[in-house]
Amino acid sequence: MTLLPEAPALPLAPAPTVRPRRLRRTAALRAMVSEHRLRPAQLVAPLFVCHGTSVRRPIGSMPGVAQISIDSMLDREVESLLRVGIRSVILFGIPANKDAVGSENFDPDGIIPRALRRLRSLAPELCLITDLCCCEYTSHGHCGVLRGDEVDNDATLEVLGRAAVVHAEAGADILAPSGMMDGMVAAIRAALDRDNFAERAILSYAVKYASAFYGPFREAAGSTPAFGDRRQYQMDPANSREALTEARLDISEGADLLMVKPALAYLDIIAAVRRESTLPLVAYNVSGEYAMVKAAAAKGWIDERKVVLESLLSMRRAGADMIITYHATEAAGWLMEDAL
Ligand code: PBG
Repeated sequence: MTLLPEAPALPLAPAPTVRPRRLRRTAALRAMVSEHRLRPAQLVAPLFVCHGTSVRRPIGSMPGVAQISIDSMLDREVESLLRVGIRSVILFGIPANKDAVGSENFDPDGIIPRALRRLRSLAPELCLITDLCCCEYTSHGHCGVLRGDEVDNDATLEVLGRAAVVHAEAGADILAPSGMMDGMVAAIRAALDRDNFAERAILSYAVKYASAFYGPFREAAGSTPAFGDRRQYQMDPANSREALTEARLDISEGADLLMVKPALAYLDIIAAVRRESTLPLVAYNVSGEYAMVKAAAAKGWIDERKVVLESLLSMRRAGADMIITYHATEAAGWLMEDAL
């Protein structure tokens, strides 16, 4: 055994005068200086509605999430989220039939208008948001009308305007176009105003990336494209300046709220859009983010409650006012317990 040579004496560092730990010493101190907070009213619960009676069809890759029919199944779901203080839902519809233009999206008796009417009478105070995209309704699974193998931007705008009016008529408070068509906000605003829905708001999926994190959603909504992918209309994950171009455009077209999607891998984008605009900003905590947390939690590898609340708080810290999340009901329940 060899003895280590004696270490040279280190110069003495002065004792720190600034000590951030002083304000972390007790729970009361920590609570007093806490900067950001998550409240149930800031969470939006996504719901997948389908035709049929007494249907509750679980989504394999999204434990706890199911396609539900518009009857007591939907009522039960909504009652449980109202109980924990959630006041807003975003609806996705599973149509009976799909066709080239996605007709059920603008059918006044389609899946979304039916769900809206039931929810309006069940819970008049609930904020109802509808996703206006075509991909759940088209036979090819793309987010608009095709011309050849490409989505025809301007033909799709007309479809979006019609769907917006139909959803507004059935009771939607906020219309949320997610198809990343150029000019979609202006087209929807014009259609709504023309039909006397000037007071209904538009939440633009302004900054939406072509992301692999949407995988489980496409199983839930049956909206996987039949060929190709969405890179001709959704954004390249390599780009951040372009996010500001998209946000500015939608602001100028009359968007009332902006969204960044996905959330966790795009917190820098949320922060950048927050600095750019004073409009309310929404983060979409997407299906793949949810699936990863659920899978790790099921294996006992993470503390689900803490990981979920920490992730949602990170979106608020980045600058999101509201968060669309599949964790909504559970997270709101935990927040209520923590508040007791
Ligand atoms: C429709 C739409 C998608 C999502 C929300 N609206 C899928 C997509 O663009 O392919 C994804 C939501 C999620 O992953 O949770 N276009």
